[in-house]
Amino acid sequence: MDANAPRFLRACRGQSVDKTPIWVMRQAGRYLPEYREIRSKTSFLGLCKTPELAAEVTAQPIRRFGMDAGIIFSDILIPVEAMGMELVFDEGPSLPKPIASAADVDKLGVPDPVQTMGFVMDAIRTVKRELKDTPLIGFAGAPFTLASYMIEGGGSRNYEKTKTLMYSEPKVWRNLASKLSRTIALHLQAQIEAGCQAVQIFDSWAGYLSKDDYLSFALPFVIEVIETLKPSGVPVILFAKGVHSAWDELSRSGADVLGVDWTTPMDQAIAATKGRVTLQGNLDPVVLLGPIQNIERQAQRVLNEARGARGHIFNLGHGILPPTPPEHLGALVECVHREGVSRVPADLA
Ligand code: CP3
Repeated sequence: MDANAPRFLRACRGQSVDKTPIWVMRQAGRYLPEYREIRSKTSFLGLCKTPELAAEVTAQPIRRFGMDAGIIFSDILIPVEAMGMELVFDEGPSLPKPIASAADVDKLGVPDPVQTMGFVMDAIRTVKRELKDTPLIGFAGAPFTLASYMIEGGGSRNYEKTKTLMYSEPKVWRNLASKLSRTIALHLQAQIEAGCQAVQIFDSWAGYLSKDDYLSFALPFVIEVIETLKPSGVPVILFAKGVHSAWDELSRSGADVLGVDWTTPMDQAIAATKGRVTLQGNLDPVVLLGPIQNIERQAQRVLNEARGARGHIFNLGHGILPPTPPEHLGALVECVHREGVSRVPADLA
């Protein structure tokens, strides 16, 4: 990696940076008036499937705030639809015909991403023309998180149906999780071929599993995805939200970067991962609703706690919330770029 590579990509690899890079999960979205303007004229899925519009909303936060990476506008459930399930977005996502049997899993395909989700790759190529110097992140949901939507039919409180299937029909679970890991790996490879320079795997609901269940039923399928991507050389970010008891296993998963939610202090995550990986996080998204003075104080705390990391990418501990005043995010980006220390050059040390 050359010395002029963008600081986000250098931090992913644990190389020295001039300033701490920052981007935020869900940075393209409803807290921005320019997003709401476009969204008022089209449905959420329509927006995802119209490359010019998806490219436009991907670029909006970067034009406004100058963060260090973009993330392609899409949704983790797009590949689930491509596998053959009906998908509806109202208040949140729902799948009217959830998976209930081995036969339902047998019917699911492992789709060709370019044929079935070509609009994502078209949006990537379109936005890359504008964001020449800003790295673009591709993404996918992890098998467990996607399977939970497919089995519950939407969001869930206790994941009762998902866990019951896992415990009572482990073969059916493995068949489903393996179809998902192949679908996700192909989709991420296609995003990389279209121009994404890093990818993030969102395991948003992994924290609802016990450590033992996470290690048995979820992480192995994430590792399959990471191993498929290794030859590309593109950094992989794994965000297993709420998984606080498996830092050692996560840091050996092959991921280059681990996302940290706001409930684990960065210094604890550094100690638990023994400098094997770069860490990304972890300001509580609700902090952005409050006064700028507190935003700056807490951002400084996160920077201090992350000081010993092999690399630190500043982010929120989960997605930015719709009521966030945009100028509060602007203040955060400025603060991180002003206060984020240049890091010990790991490549020289
Ligand atoms: O981060 C970005 O800016 C890129 C776009 C992105 C969206 N969804 C757009 C979106 C990304 C990376 C996602 C990932 C996603 N989608 C996750 C994982 C991340 C996380 O937050 O844990 C999950 C669980 C989903 C599923 C999903 N999509 C839910 C539960 C919802 C409804 C809840 C909500 O926040 O509204 C969505 C809808 C969605 N995805 C919106 C956006 C901007 C809001 C749609 C709208 O405009 O009405």
